[in-house]
Amino acid sequence: MKRTTLTSSLLFLATISLPGVAIAEEEKAFAPNVDMATGEISVPADYTLWPTLGTWSHAKIDGGAVNIHEYHVVYTQPTTIEYYQKKGRFPDGAVLVKELLHAGTMSMTTGPAVGHATTLKGYFVLVRDTKGRFTNSPLWGDGWGWSFFDPADLKKTTSKDYKVDCIPCHVPAKDLAPRNAKKDDKWIYTLGYPVLQKK
Ligand code: HEC
Repeated sequence: MKRTTLTSSLLFLATISLPGVAIAEEEKAFAPNVDMATGEISVPADYTLWPTLGTWSHAKIDGGAVNIHEYHVVYTQPTTIEYYQKKGRFPDGAVLVKELLHAGTMSMTTGPAVGHATTLKGYFVLVRDTKGRFTNSPLWGDGWGWSFFDPADLKKTTSKDYKVDCIPCHVPAKDLAPRNAKKDDKWIYTLGYPVLQKK
């Protein structure tokens, strides 16, 4: 009798723990910069080793001269680029890091107004979430996790609510996105990333 109880308890434990392990492993593989308990996002530690998706340059006209005063450089995991090129959409766990850099402009042997990046001004980070996680966090929704970081702290975001801090400025991306893009991928300004086009 005792033995039967023990065996059935063990069987019971095995059945409940197996799906638990599977979920833990899946979540661990989600994104390297997300705290799975709270949904807090950080700037991924190794993102500078990732390929760049593209660069945006911001020019100003100063007294008739054109000066580049800021660059926005966007990085993502190599696997995200590979996946997008094959399937035409961002995979769950895709991380997009946008660096904001101050810039200087000078005449060089290549041209009269050549811009170069100088110091870091901030970071915007997006994490693709196809499963609707962290429904209670105001940093998550519309298929992504959204955060801004000051260079002083890459672990703690200064943004509070993506619907206020991010969405209004990303609405125009919808009309610029490819017509057949997934609904939530249309928040991304993919026109600046030719590397995502199918090979
Ligand atoms: C002032 C408008 C504005 C705000 C506010 C804004 N964005 Fe953006 N974002 C843009 C534009 C425009 C681009 C592409 C061109 C550029 O960077 O100049 C962009 C690009 C990005 C990119 C690169 C991927 C892409 O969509 O092309 C990330 C990552 C990003 N934004 C994240 C965020 C997050 C997270 C927030 C909120 C914390 C946010 N943005 C708030 C306008 C904005």
